[in-house]
Formats: sequence, C-alpha cells, structure tokens
Amino acid sequence: EIIGVARSLSAIRAELGDCQRCKLCASRKNIVFGVGPEPAALMFIGEAPGADEDRLGDPFVGKAGELLDKMIEAMGWGRADVYIANVLKCRPPNNRNPEADEVAACRPFLDAQIRAVRPRIIVTLGRPAANVVLGRDVPISALRGRFHERGGVPVMPTFHPAYLLREPARKRDTWSDLKQVMAELDRI
Ligand code: URA
Repeated sequence: EIIGVARSLSAIRAELGDCQRCKLCASRKNIVFGVGPEPAALMFIGEAPGADEDRLGDPFVGKAGELLDKMIEAMGWGRADVYIANVLKCRPPNNRNPEADEVAACRPFLDAQIRAVRPRIIVTLGRPAANVVLGRDVPISALRGRFHERGGVPVMPTFHPAYLLREPARKRDTWSDLKQVMAELDRI
C-alpha cells in the first residue's frame, strides 16, 4: 500500500481473495465483504455475518437487517446511501462471538474499508463491534449514547438490531443515538 493513499474497495476485496487467514474459512459459505458506495458519509459496522448473510454474501439481509433498513430509512436515507460492513467477514459457527484471532486476521480489511469509505461518522452495532472499533472491552451501556473517536472519525456506538428485536424497549435509546448522528451530519 502506498503510504497515505487509500486503496479502492474493489482492490481491498481483491486482496482478501478466497481468504484462508483464519479458521472461519472452513465453515463459511460466502465471504460477506460489505456493501455501499465509496465515499459514504455514514458507515455502519456490525459484528459478523449470520446464517442469511453467509448464504447470500451480503451484510444484514436477515431479520436484524430488516430492522437496520428501517433505522436507516428513519434517518432519511436508503440502504444504498450508506456503507455497511462487519468486523468479521465470515460467519462464526452457531453465531458465536468473534474470537481474538479471527478479529486480528480480519481487522486490516475493516481498517482498509474505513479508509476507502472515508465516512464522516461510524455507527457501531452492538458490543463486539464497538469494542473492536474503539479498542475497548466494556459493556455497550458504557459506550453508547455519546460520540467517541477513532482515527479522527466520530464513532457512535448503539445497540445491535438483533438485540432490539429481543428488547424493543431499547429502540427509544437507539433512536436517540441515531438522532445525534443526524444532527452531527446536519440532517436535523
Ligand atoms: N448481524 C451482524 O452483526 N451482521 C450481519 O451482517 C448480520 C447480522
């Protein structure tokens, strides 16, 4: 990589190739790289593909994805306007949490995606994504609801849509987090 020059998303995807850098390659069906334009003002980062994503190769296309789409639409955008990625590009067996070696193997690709997308704001979804992006290891309640910073980019951690499906009462908090994001982007 030439210092200071971000690679394009297609170049990053090409480098990822038929990735065998961690053990998840043995059980995945598809690599779920991420979708969206470059640059994109807003970037969402989730945890890892689930069963639907593994089958289809795109992030957030199952039940949690339907709710994420609604959240994006409530913010006045469409899915095609934002970049959506995950910390891990391959599904962990039975949707278990990402393991440290998997995060370490995948992280250079997430970092490269962030540089390519050049988001004005990153929204992380759930505890693992927030902790990986911010280099912390704390509960989501200790992070959500205020901006943090990573490499000069404001980061708003919020709840994962799969958690919101189980705990709809937390949708109100999530909406308050997303309104802060809209305000920062001068959308309200
Ligand atoms: N959950 C995630 O964290 N990412 C997806 O792509 C789907 C569900």
